[in-house]
Amino acid sequence: MELNGKRIVLGVTGGVAAYKAATLLRGLTGAGAKVQVVMTAAATRFVTPVTFQALSGQPVFVDMWDTRISDNMAHIALSRSADAILVAPATADFLAKTAHGQADDLLSTLVLARNCPLLVAPAMNRQMWENPATRRNVDLLARDGVICLGPDAGAQACGEEGDGRMREPEALLESLIGFFAPKFLTGKKLLLTAGPTFEAIDPVRGITNLSSGRMGYAVARAAAAAGAEVTLVSGPVALPTPPDVTRIDVRSALEMHAEVMRRVKGSDAGTDIFVAIAAVADYRAERISPQKLKKAAGGLPEIRFVENPDILAEVAALPNAPFCVGFAAESENLETYARQKRERKHIPLIVGNLIQEGFGGDENRVILFDDAGSHPLPVAGKAEIARQLIEHIAHLLEKK
Ligand code: C5P
Repeated sequence: MELNGKRIVLGVTGGVAAYKAATLLRGLTGAGAKVQVVMTAAATRFVTPVTFQALSGQPVFVDMWDTRISDNMAHIALSRSADAILVAPATADFLAKTAHGQADDLLSTLVLARNCPLLVAPAMNRQMWENPATRRNVDLLARDGVICLGPDAGAQACGEEGDGRMREPEALLESLIGFFAPKFLTGKKLLLTAGPTFEAIDPVRGITNLSSGRMGYAVARAAAAAGAEVTLVSGPVALPTPPDVTRIDVRSALEMHAEVMRRVKGSDAGTDIFVAIAAVADYRAERISPQKLKKAAGGLPEIRFVENPDILAEVAALPNAPFCVGFAAESENLETYARQKRERKHIPLIVGNLIQEGFGGDENRVILFDDAGSHPLPVAGKAEIARQLIEHIAHLLEKK
């Protein structure tokens, strides 16, 4: 699991979003982290410590003078035992205090005494967030190396709309996982394709496939977490854009081809790695009917198909080609087909997976094929497979 062995202090301060900290806590423990919750007195007005205690399996601390810590140095004991402190929600008051080194309760004191990274997820009314005093405090915190996650824009508990909503627990969890990920690809530009393509036949019909895009999005996420600058050219999928990823939406193979080629060719081509994960349609209708096709009386419609460009093969054939990685989703003869594809497309690495075991599902069994031979990865979720793939790519790049 992504946060196995990580010790996190989860600070909860007094804002309505404190209820979301319970979901965040579940996510953190679910990812393998050991979490110690510390609340401000105001936070206990919104959610009781009992909730966090039950979810973390640890006593919750609120008070500086808690006698459960034998040497009365809760602030030192708690901050020393953490790999990171995450404060979510972080109120305007908490940010102000932290920016100025004020320490008048357990959470602010342990934050001042920390020797580990501090991440904050601000949550407040939009006017409070925009107030020049808060802006100054957020700047000061950034200069001190505090990582600010959010806030997001949207509806607020006060009925107003704007910047100040706490980033959603799932996104905060992802940011924290990204924060701890080894930075294998710092300074590298990675371009990838993901999802299906949709080849129109007429204004309402077309040909597509069942690719969910999840493997591609997992690789985009893992690459960004590994420090790469990631651009994701995506076919139509119902997935949120991973944090710190630039996403370009396309529909057809031709659009995908154009967006990819413009980024790997020409003067501003700076792509180091190209990962082709999209399930690109092999064929498209030669002509897209401008009008909806009508049922032909007494006959079947005739649609002529033409071949789509092979994006991966074309990129791999460029003079200064980036390091190219392909995917081979096969329903049989995985090894033979994957090896053949690697050779035919002249790419250094191909990821093979048997689709009956992985297409659309959560668990994947994949084998990596490169110059050194085949490397089966243990069966795992897409996020884990993506992380291992990124590590393998970084390793091969290092050897180049
Ligand atoms: O040729 P095949 O579709 O089996 O190869 C799969 C690999 O090639 C995948 O990495 C896929 O993203 C890429 N591909 C491509 N453009 C196509 C067809 C496949 O980039 N037109």
